[in-house]
Amino acid sequence: MRPPSISRCIRIGRPTSCRPIGNSLPVQRGDVANFSEILRAAVSLPLRLEKTLFAAPVTVATSTTVVTFADRPSIQDWLRLHGEIFLHGRDVWTESRFRRELLERDWFLPQRMWWAISPASDTAIGAITLEVAGDVGQIHWLMVDPAARRRGVAAALLATLENAAWQCGASRITAETLSSWEPAVAFYRRQGYEAA
Ligand SMILES: CC(C)(COP(=O)(O)OP(=O)(O)OC[C@H]1O[C@@H](n2cnc3c(N)ncnc32)[C@H](O)[C@@H]1OP(=O)(O)O)[C@@H](O)C(=O)NCCC(=O)NCCS
Repeated sequence: MRPPSISRCIRIGRPTSCRPIGNSLPVQRGDVANFSEILRAAVSLPLRLEKTLFAAPVTVATSTTVVTFADRPSIQDWLRLHGEIFLHGRDVWTESRFRRELLERDWFLPQRMWWAISPASDTAIGAITLEVAGDVGQIHWLMVDPAARRRGVAAALLATLENAAWQCGASRITAETLSSWEPAVAFYRRQGYEAA
């Protein structure tokens, strides 16, 4: 039987804005169910996911405090989280790189980057950024401190972003990750995102 085509669900788009380095291969050879899974695990392709908003996203009650970068313009907090999560603590972007990659982009607005703040320690435990282009909202750099995961922090950030995108006229939200990054893929699927 012909193996399922991965080109149907995975395509290489523009360079992803949240690509980790040194990806492990979380799927073991014995676990893979079919050819496409073997390929995904082996080459860790960029995966583009999207969701269509048909109505204003429902606001869910959450214990996570979410504030904008305009309210809390801490570049150091972002660099710390990014370095720990995407660079595995082995490196950290310079402030000028952060400015180049985010603040100086023509689409960037400080009201469209959000922090999740721990109420107990008042520290930043997560972040997400929104780019809006016409009716499309693009998610950039969703990240949650490993110590704060599986408590709905990313869900709270994403709900805030989707609401803001809807208010800006976006009806389609896209995200890019790597096919081998299982927590991210599972998270987006749980939130209703599908391979584009
Ligand atoms: C992906 C990420 C943002 C999720 O953050 P989070 O705050 O733990 O997510 P939430 O608690 O809001 O949502 C959890 C849901 O996502 C899915 N999920 C999250 N992590 C998972 C994991 N390790 N394995 C399986 N499912 C997972 C589950 O459906 C989970 O629901 P459950 O806890 O009831 O099973 C976080 O793991 C992270 O920062 N990863 C590294 C950076 C990254 O991948 N960013 C996104 C792509 S650029």
